[in-house]
Amino acid sequence: MEKKTVLITGASSGIGEGCARKFAMNGHRLILNGRNVEKLNAVKDELEEKYGVEVWLLPFDVRDRAAARAALDSLPEEWKAIDVLVNNAGLVIGVDKEHEGSLDEWDVVIDTNVKALLAMTRLVVPGMVERGRGHVINMGSIAGDYAYPGGSVYCACKAAVKGNNELSFAEADKLIDELLKLENPYN
Ligand SMILES: NC(=O)c1ccc[n+]([C@@H]2O[C@H](COP(=O)([O-])OP(=O)(O)OC[C@H]3O[C@@H](n4cnc5c(N)ncnc54)[C@H](OP(=O)(O)O)[C@@H]3O)[C@@H](O)[C@H]2O)c1
Repeated sequence: MEKKTVLITGASSGIGEGCARKFAMNGHRLILNGRNVEKLNAVKDELEEKYGVEVWLLPFDVRDRAAARAALDSLPEEWKAIDVLVNNAGLVIGVDKEHEGSLDEWDVVIDTNVKALLAMTRLVVPGMVERGRGHVINMGSIAGDYAYPGGSVYCACKAAVKGNNELSFAEADKLIDELLKLENPYN
């Protein structure tokens, strides 16, 4: 299998870390994002040692557009051609009923799960279009299909991710002859 350069957001734990391990097992080189540098370093050390793959750490808050742009610009030339973007960074806060929820918490959830996902796509996909190849994997959730009590804003965010995937599919054909494929493991 051809070695790909894979950028995973939220790779310091959970599903993102699991994705990193899976890509590493298959010999791909990884750019790992998250905010917890200590955890990212631990993942990097483990993957390099176990699978002999190259790992580049790119710690930044995905909600911070300027930081995201600066981080991508800071990549060495040989790491800039990203083949796969895994938009995984995401979170849910609390299980409040909607009429009792916190607007500040909602900002964090929406900014991370939706706005940052769109911003990362906007930053990375132009290079894929230019190179005529690339994949974007957006981490959805069954919550985007089936709302649960207390899930209010999280469910709305994941429904937005699902809608975005469908739009991107529609655009992909026109952009680069179906080479850009949007996949959502949860939908
Ligand atoms: N767990 C589930 O049952 C489940 C089910 C369906 C979908 N999902 C989705 O899967 C994705 C990962 O969830 P998870 O369960 O693996 O959660 P998790 O274990 O809490 O991991 C979340 C990851 O996202 C990163 N992250 C959060 N906010 C960030 C920010 N502002 N900037 C950069 N990185 C950020 C965290 O890293 P730092 O703390 O280092 O920043 C961490 O690496 C999410 O999109 C979630 O909605 C999860």
